[in-house]
Amino acid sequence: MAKSRAKFICERCGAESAQWHGKCPSCGEWNTLASFTPPTALLAAAPRAPSQPPVPLAEVDLAAVERRQTGVAELDRVLGGGLVPGALMLVAGDPGIGKSTLLLQAASAFAQGGGSCLYVSGEESLGQVAMRSQRLAARPENVLLLAETDLSVIEEQVQRTSPDLLIVDSIQAMYSPDTQSLPGTVSQVRSCAARLLRIAKDLRLPTFLVGHVTKDGSVAGPRLLEHMVDTVLSLEGECHSGYRVLRSLKNRFGSTDELGLFQMTEAGLEGVPDPSAALLAERRNGTPGSSVVAAIEGTRPLLLEVQALVARAAPYGSPRRSVTGVDLPRTCLILAVLEKQAGISLAGEDVFVNIPGGIRTAEPAVDLGIALAVASSAKDAPIRPDTACVGEVGLTGEVRSVPMVDRRLAELRRHGFRRCLVPPRAMSARHGGIEAVPVEDLRRAFVEALSG
Ligand code: TYD
Ligand code: MG
Repeated sequence: MAKSRAKFICERCGAESAQWHGKCPSCGEWNTLASFTPPTALLAAAPRAPSQPPVPLAEVDLAAVERRQTGVAELDRVLGGGLVPGALMLVAGDPGIGKSTLLLQAASAFAQGGGSCLYVSGEESLGQVAMRSQRLAARPENVLLLAETDLSVIEEQVQRTSPDLLIVDSIQAMYSPDTQSLPGTVSQVRSCAARLLRIAKDLRLPTFLVGHVTKDGSVAGPRLLEHMVDTVLSLEGECHSGYRVLRSLKNRFGSTDELGLFQMTEAGLEGVPDPSAALLAERRNGTPGSSVVAAIEGTRPLLLEVQALVARAAPYGSPRRSVTGVDLPRTCLILAVLEKQAGISLAGEDVFVNIPGGIRTAEPAVDLGIALAVASSAKDAPIRPDTACVGEVGLTGEVRSVPMVDRRLAELRRHGFRRCLVPPRAMSARHGGIEAVPVEDLRRAFVEALSG
């Protein structure tokens, strides 16, 4: 019989070590190493020796994977078309962002579609969950609720009720009695996830885990689980704005970077069928400092407004650079290019860049939109209302090509735009109904976009 070897694990960063150290060799934190015996479930969840001979790739039956819809359309799309049997899916996000709401809605919709669902709540009482479901106006018969944190009991109840969908809210609240540490610590989160992985795979039971993103993003948080689960979905947004973005960061059964947009209402999360229209709804045409970019999230084109404000900085200290929704280092780079290659002086100016609606993007194709919005505010000249833009900005001020220009232009046309500034290399394609204006550098882009 294999001897179970005691190991040590850092409760802060999750690093493993064969011996005890006062200071974690990995993250440098003191007194964080705790003894950790890998639970048997963890070992059992490891890939077992193949009991069948290898099969030629070409002969593997593709029809074997049948997906089941949850009934929440945006969630299904982000999952890549629905639930795959045995998939372990992590829904991560800040506390209070709406994870429990989303999954309770998914449970109800799934049940209304004829499936049965077991919703395990480790944080809220049955009464609280029921009150929430009343608010969501969804209380179907075959959603079973269980307020429990002991994983052995949960396992037993899963065996007894054999649901078609399991939801565990949240993984940080669960504990596995064979691991001696508090719920929410690295070793507990790991062994609970390993046991749930085992249940999901053995019973071919699609399972959602809720994971809170902790303040410093690391302590026993979702990062620790990313390699164990099949899918990582992240629910993001500004708690104060109504929009919530659901993204897939990892998906073994579909494309990543797929995006779903929801709006938090009195009756829970509502899918937004036309995100571009929603995001542009409050835009003020003809005001300096606002540009429109056709971004792509996953395979989906999304029109974003980029706002910039350039304002005289205080005479002391260094001027401020503040961004929401875009990458700060990237934006600083664009500001430097504007200064050096396009003659826009920003040295004594505070610069603020924002994407309204709580959307975040890291797509390089948004560069030109940031540059135009900043230039428009600095020159106090509005961008032509019918004109959008797309393109990456290089260090010499050139506008570089981006993928999927046709798709972006089609989305712009659908929302009534007549012109779009594009990288010069994008010109080969034909675009009906919208004029693609090739711009080779920032100076040319300003001439084409700024009015007055
Ligand atoms: P919740 O799902 O509890 O967040 P999480 O599980 O991610 O911690 O959502 C909490 C917030 O959502 C709370 O501040 C209230 C808000 N909310 C609504 O605005 N409308 C609703 O119908 C519901 C159920 C919640
Ligand atoms: Mg919750």
